[in-house]
Amino acid sequence: MYLKRTPLAALVLAALMLAAGCTLWRVLVPASPSGAPASDVSVPEVTPERRKAALFYSDLGPETVDASSYPAERKRDYEVYARVCSRCHTLARSINAPYVSRGWWEFYVARMRVRAKFHGKPLTKSEVKAVLDFLEYDSNERKVAHAAEFDATKAVLKRRFEAALDERIEGLQKQTQPRLIP
Ligand code: HEC
Repeated sequence: MYLKRTPLAALVLAALMLAAGCTLWRVLVPASPSGAPASDVSVPEVTPERRKAALFYSDLGPETVDASSYPAERKRDYEVYARVCSRCHTLARSINAPYVSRGWWEFYVARMRVRAKFHGKPLTKSEVKAVLDFLEYDSNERKVAHAAEFDATKAVLKRRFEAALDERIEGLQKQTQPRLIP
């Protein structure tokens, strides 16, 4: 045979097998459950008040969007969104929410519309359109086009939310308990 069983051939074969094994490992085993290393993103910490009040993990993330590179119309939509969607909770709830498609946003905004109506401050048709146009555009920019980064941010926020819940439960457990058995 042309390829003799020399130590060099064995070494080359071993190296090739190792490289193939590494590639297979990388393909089959994701870096983290969300597919992106969470340590790569830094998400600014929130105030203790916000930690205490959080109802969703999204509440514990950034409250603003950098819309400086967005088209002029979407910048105007952002102003409307920032005004009407921060009345009852911070913008963080929608900015860091996992929803991305216009259909999902229509569903949630319809829900918020009902709530706003009950609060005596109904949203107008043009406000709803501006909010949906903004959410659709912004979701594509930040959540779809930069999916790995957004997934990593969500992973950080989920851990933060779990820790915040643990803190709240600990606080409740420290309170004096009513005696059930006299
Ligand atoms: C009148 C008060 C009010 C206004 C205004 C309001 N929200 Fe909400 N929102 C709530 C309440 C209360 C909840 C929690 C209960 C729920 O999910 O319905 C909530 C929850 C949410 C959630 C989390 C839903 C989930 O289940 O994950 C999102 C996202 C959201 N709001 C986005 C928005 C957006 C976008 C706007 C602007 C159109 C908005 N909110 C305006 C009261 C409001």
